[in-house]
Amino acid sequence: MKKVDETRIEELMSQLTLEEKIDMIHGAGLFETGGVPRLGIPPLKMSDGPMGVRKEFARDSWINIGTTDDYVSYLPSNSALASTWSRDMAYQTGKILGAEARGRGKDVILAPGINIKRSPLCGRNFEYMSEDPRLVEEMVAPLIKGIQENDLAACVKHLAVNNQETDRLAVDTYVDERTLREIYFPGFIAALDKGESHTIMGAYNRLYGEHCSQSRYLLTKIVRDEWGYDGAVVSDWGGVHDTKEAAESGLDIEMSVTGDFNNYYMANPLLKAVRNGEIKEECIDKKIRNILRTMLRLNMLGEDRKNRKVGTYNSPAHREAILACAEESIILLKNENNRLPLKKDSLDTLAIIGQNGERLHAGGGGSAEIKALYEISPLLGMKMELGGDIPVKYAKGYYVPSKKERKLNWQQDSLENQEAAKEEARLYAEKLKEEIKIRQEELLSEAVQLARETKEVILMVGLDHDHDIEGRDRNDMKLPYDQDRLINEVLAVNPNTIVVVVAGSPVEMNSWVDNAKAIAWSYYAGMEGGRALAKVLLGDVNPSGKLAETFPKKLDDSPAHKLGEFGNYGKVTYNEGVYVGYRYYDSYDIDVEFPFGHGLSYTTFEYSDLVIKLDETSMEDDVNVGIRITIRNTGTVSGAEVVQIYVTDKEASVSRPVHELKGFTKVYIEPGKEQVVDIKLHKGSFGFYDINKHSFVVEPGDFKIQVSSSSRDIRLSKTIRLNKEYTY
Ligand code: BGC
Repeated sequence: MKKVDETRIEELMSQLTLEEKIDMIHGAGLFETGGVPRLGIPPLKMSDGPMGVRKEFARDSWINIGTTDDYVSYLPSNSALASTWSRDMAYQTGKILGAEARGRGKDVILAPGINIKRSPLCGRNFEYMSEDPRLVEEMVAPLIKGIQENDLAACVKHLAVNNQETDRLAVDTYVDERTLREIYFPGFIAALDKGESHTIMGAYNRLYGEHCSQSRYLLTKIVRDEWGYDGAVVSDWGGVHDTKEAAESGLDIEMSVTGDFNNYYMANPLLKAVRNGEIKEECIDKKIRNILRTMLRLNMLGEDRKNRKVGTYNSPAHREAILACAEESIILLKNENNRLPLKKDSLDTLAIIGQNGERLHAGGGGSAEIKALYEISPLLGMKMELGGDIPVKYAKGYYVPSKKERKLNWQQDSLENQEAAKEEARLYAEKLKEEIKIRQEELLSEAVQLARETKEVILMVGLDHDHDIEGRDRNDMKLPYDQDRLINEVLAVNPNTIVVVVAGSPVEMNSWVDNAKAIAWSYYAGMEGGRALAKVLLGDVNPSGKLAETFPKKLDDSPAHKLGEFGNYGKVTYNEGVYVGYRYYDSYDIDVEFPFGHGLSYTTFEYSDLVIKLDETSMEDDVNVGIRITIRNTGTVSGAEVVQIYVTDKEASVSRPVHELKGFTKVYIEPGKEQVVDIKLHKGSFGFYDINKHSFVVEPGDFKIQVSSSSRDIRLSKTIRLNKEYTY
């Protein structure tokens, strides 16, 4: 982390009164702390979130300001970003997010969200990156670097094991220490260490009985003592439940969802407790130091302010970069007989069926909602790209009932009335059942008719932010709105139909996956998502996205559900341990719909000439493993391939997954050309966390290095032998 002049902190500390210090460590607005104008200490202004800067709210209530000056660029979700497997894309996207947040006058952007995708059902999966810690580590660091280049703080969230929305404020999580260290911590360590994130957010849920946002284990022992973090730790909004615990933990700032700021746990109750000697003032001083240090890092204090970088939002350059990222995020899951791309020259009419063709997604999802300057739907994108002469017919295909307006704002509601909201939604749906049935039949027969009479059909299905949403998990992995039936009936009359799924988490596909010749997948890909998709379908862009999570065939296969617990109230136990995602599916030979790392291209790549150089002598207490391969584009169009390295520990003293991702590179190659790819691994790629030694250990022995195009498409492999033991 950037060093600051600590004497400046002490100078301010000596002038601050206890009351002023208290003002600085809790929300004095829904998205800002209190400042101390007397000493030139400004408030810290914050905003969500991962996909752009959120709209403005009133200072003390969830009323939208409603002006037109808070429209922003809508960025690809972290799910989309992770699917690019491009560190450069992460960096570029971060730069945009940071510039937009600074442009809107913020100091902290409450992003990125990097919780591990443990179950397909987690309502917030779309905000997160991957099931794999290594991929998260590699993507989060450049993303944060990009954000913070603008003199703005990232706030990586939510520490830790925040993997379900059900009972989100209270659920107590039990996960063994090895799993915490191997699966759930690495992304956060990379964010703080390599990414140098100026702030971090604690989670809502509990871990080992303690609320994460005030946990002594997490925030003091791990974050402060072990990781040596000296930036600012922010609670999730309403994540604090006790004055003493919060004050004495490594937490610095309490934020919440109500307008009675002086009643927050770290406001008047804390002031009182310090005054009567129950809590030591030095607990507060630590927090103030961390906050002032963060402000110094952001050039927020004194004369530094003159040098603080300014931002901008909605710039044309941002939109171009967002388009580029969206293009690389789209994943071609299946393409039998080169069904895609569509040939523009021979296209006379095109039918787009399914409401995800025209629906806009920016405005939903919870705190990740975006008031987008614009959002190009797939239908609009297709028309923009086709040029005007090719008629595009559209049918809704499935019925989406309108939502019931709720009295309370979503944010408050999701904390205070989670169950009541769910029940109300259920009753409302029940009431609409008959009407839905009738509308559904009408739309279905119209869609089937259109599919029958049109040669080229694109079926746009998937989820929306009524399902991919904060505060609620999905009940199952099924497509809502009777879409399986729609897909099956359309495929029955037009077997050439191309299926495109727009969603934020995996859906069950088994009733139609074998019948569809081509399937493409788009996560919520930002304001240019529809244009990017059209370019991919028309072959102007060669798809290069790869799955950052496994798509299981059915929910029961998911390790969180089969071995562990998910969605419980009260307590969840992660019995699956380190066997998350492909670590489980591949180790236990479970048939999956599409494996981790999978994604097709309009060209083909050949892998050859694997050479591995092992050097155990020239570095002290580390190993150098140089992997070299040649990748050749054997097709007729230029394209990009993500070369993935998986490592297998052939004999270990503990149970280890059959392989783990340890390195990757994305290469862009012209047709007929080849590229030599070098990937280096060090000891950190071979160890496991030894709970007795309290450190990662590499046991000497054989390790298989697999060079792959997905976790199940291993192209080349070799075994190396490490002769020494390493710890880290
Ligand atoms: C979410 C956070 C978000 C915060 C502020 C909470 O409900 O969990 O991710 O940053 O609200 O809106």
